[in-house]
Amino acid sequence: MNILVTGGAGFIGSAVVRHIINNTQNTVINVDKLTYAGNLESLRSVANNVRYSFEKVDICDRSELDRVFLQHQPDAVMHLAAESHVDRSITGPADFIQTNIVGTYTLLEASRHYWMQLDVERKAAFRFHHISTDEVYGDLPHPVEREGELPLFTEITSYAPSSPYSASKASSDHLVRAWLRTYGLPTIVTNCSNNYGPYHFPEKLIPLVILNALEGKPLPIYGKGDQIRDWLYVEDHARALYKVVTEGKIGETYNIGGHNEKQNLEVVQTICTILDSLVPKDAPYADQITYVTDRPGHDRRYAIDATKMNVELDWHPLETFETGLRKTVEWYLANQEWCQHVQDGTYQRERLGI
Ligand SMILES: NC(=O)c1ccc[n+]([C@@H]2O[C@H](COP(=O)([O-])OP(=O)(O)OC[C@H]3O[C@@H](n4cnc5c(N)ncnc54)[C@H](O)[C@@H]3O)[C@@H](O)[C@H]2O)c1
Repeated sequence: MNILVTGGAGFIGSAVVRHIINNTQNTVINVDKLTYAGNLESLRSVANNVRYSFEKVDICDRSELDRVFLQHQPDAVMHLAAESHVDRSITGPADFIQTNIVGTYTLLEASRHYWMQLDVERKAAFRFHHISTDEVYGDLPHPVEREGELPLFTEITSYAPSSPYSASKASSDHLVRAWLRTYGLPTIVTNCSNNYGPYHFPEKLIPLVILNALEGKPLPIYGKGDQIRDWLYVEDHARALYKVVTEGKIGETYNIGGHNEKQNLEVVQTICTILDSLVPKDAPYADQITYVTDRPGHDRRYAIDATKMNVELDWHPLETFETGLRKTVEWYLANQEWCQHVQDGTYQRERLGI
């Protein structure tokens, strides 16, 4: 297969590209605008592979997308390009509307026009896989609010997004569904929980805490730190996405998650404990924990029911939260240069979205 991956220079996109190049015989065309979040250094290990090519293209640019489709003749699209940081969406929602909604619309139209002129066999085999988030479902009851077994997000949970980011992703999910129903474009949607792992831009909780801890800086906890996220190691997500694009059923939604519900404070404390053992210093790293004003509209709890992925596609995560987090901390310790380069000139881990 010839797979066109959008956002392949980002955190999850680069894991998808590395997974496909290293574990399959498929070809990848990486279409990425290279915003602050996109970094070709994350693809250094595959950049010289003959099955990999890069196109610096904005997904809002229809004529450039048409050129890329014509030139590379993809068999599938895996659409990951997006503005992805909730705090940034609070400070400046415009880019989120533009890329996540207008960009997805433009990519759908370019895909549809390309798909319509394929021969019968290639047309039937074509897939448009839209990669989305569990944040489109809003939030779930938290254990401090309700006793007993708590609900999980399933593929039929109603959409109730809370932030400009999740609202823009929800909009894009709806567009994808409509392009299937109205035009017959063979689409599949996945909604995944919070990812973590190597090559994660240091504005997100886990890399930010690792780097701040090593530099002796405060480790910011929003509010009381009792918000719950369901964590998945990024390489487990990449494997899941490849399963979906190759084996998933047209028109289906698949929820992807690792059954790792953790409070933010617990995540930060666990990172501190790992650092205490790997890079010991006089005082425990947890002494650097600092409580700061909560994020406006902060969702209380996310948790994914991934039964459909487990049963229908036989996908299961390989990492537990403990093994994945240790690998992640070790990766950041060994890759300080990458961390320096991706932050240069743009972002100094300052607080956004207050
Ligand atoms: N990070 C998570 O925990 C998570 C969880 C579930 C779903 N998702 C979804 O997965 C996808 C990838 O997330 P990520 O964390 O890797 O994001 P990221 O911010 O790390 O990467 C996004 C990539 O998209 C590119 N991009 C942005 N705007 C573009 C445009 N207009 N045209 C072309 N390229 C553009 C960026 O340069 C970057 O390489 C997103 O759609 C996100 O909503 C993320």
